[in-house]
Amino acid sequence: MSDTYTPVPSDKLSFGLWTIGWRGVDVFGGAVRDELDPVEAVERLSSLGAAAITFHDDDLVPNDATREKVLDRFTAALAENNVAVEMATTNLFSSPVFKDGGFTSNDREVRRYALAKAARNIDLGARMGAHTYVMWGGREGAESGAAKDVHAALDRMKEGIDTLCAYVRDQGYDIRFALEPKPNEPRGDILLPTVGHALAFINDLDDPDRVGLNPEVGHEEMSGLNYAHGIAQAMWHGKLFHIDLNGQNGPRFDQDLRFGAGNARGAFWAVDVLEGSAGRAPRYDGYVHFDYKPPRTEDADDVWETARANMRNYLILREKVRAFRGDPEVQQAMAESRILDLWEPTMSPGETLADLRSATYDLDGLAKRGMHFERLDQLALEYLYGVR
Ligand code: GCO
Ligand code: MN
Ligand code: MN
Repeated sequence: MSDTYTPVPSDKLSFGLWTIGWRGVDVFGGAVRDELDPVEAVERLSSLGAAAITFHDDDLVPNDATREKVLDRFTAALAENNVAVEMATTNLFSSPVFKDGGFTSNDREVRRYALAKAARNIDLGARMGAHTYVMWGGREGAESGAAKDVHAALDRMKEGIDTLCAYVRDQGYDIRFALEPKPNEPRGDILLPTVGHALAFINDLDDPDRVGLNPEVGHEEMSGLNYAHGIAQAMWHGKLFHIDLNGQNGPRFDQDLRFGAGNARGAFWAVDVLEGSAGRAPRYDGYVHFDYKPPRTEDADDVWETARANMRNYLILREKVRAFRGDPEVQQAMAESRILDLWEPTMSPGETLADLRSATYDLDGLAKRGMHFERLDQLALEYLYGVR
């Protein structure tokens, strides 16, 4: 099927090697699919129209004995298929040594190993041309109140990130870090659980300009939060360095559904924010990265159907969002809802609070003025439901 929802490399769509390569292992059962050869991943993604691939060290080079051989084959496949490595990240959660986390494990030897492991894969990311390095602290957290001194843990998290920022700077790598918040799973409570926590933390780092966010749809929605608002605020701070798109059905375990499944209305507004909403806010111009898990029910061919579906859903929603924002009736409704009026500063140049305090306000009139938001939102839903 090749149509307007078939991506081209300039759409900058990207997948984690661990997503299409997920073998379906969960807490209740083992693998249902065979191991995926990273070279096949590159070939298939390229033929589906993706532009890039990303990896954890252990997805690509789990084994030191075969490391250089694997890297040679992988690098050749990237070049042949015109696929970029846009991001890399460290697995600080699978090995048993990381049972209490990496950068914030209570065990100092583990913390030292975690930093060494991250630095090694930063070298590889730089060599592969990645400009973003994601840090997902999946096991940085606790199950019980007694287990973790959060103050000390945040000190160690800062120490780890500061150290790696200095390393990247000293090596002259063109790499920025993107922290990925998640509230829980696999730990009972994870540090930096939401976009807001992570944004605040960045301010206390030594090199805050080098560090931003990689918010994931499902992770914000697990906390009952609005992903579109989260990424909009990250962009307001200039911190939306990367995104993990997927699908989730509200607060429950991390479902990692394909993008557009789960909360479809939330997906529409997320794409709207990425596209710059009503036109005054900046657009996101980074890679659109999918971090999902093809369900265990799917076979090896189905995996590629799900990969294609992520990209189609993104392109379908992008088209709908653009049609919605470009519709003259919507623009009229936006004007009546005073959407763009919010860009106007509340005080005119030269005015002071004293001017506002001495002014008179027609409170009865203001109270009666409707905002007409429901009509505007209904227009959006009708685009989403496919009747406009
Ligand atoms: C998850 C996370 C991970 C990270 C990945 C990159 O909930 O499993 O989203 O998939 O994104 O480890 O660091
Ligand atoms: Mn997830
Ligand atoms: Mn993720």
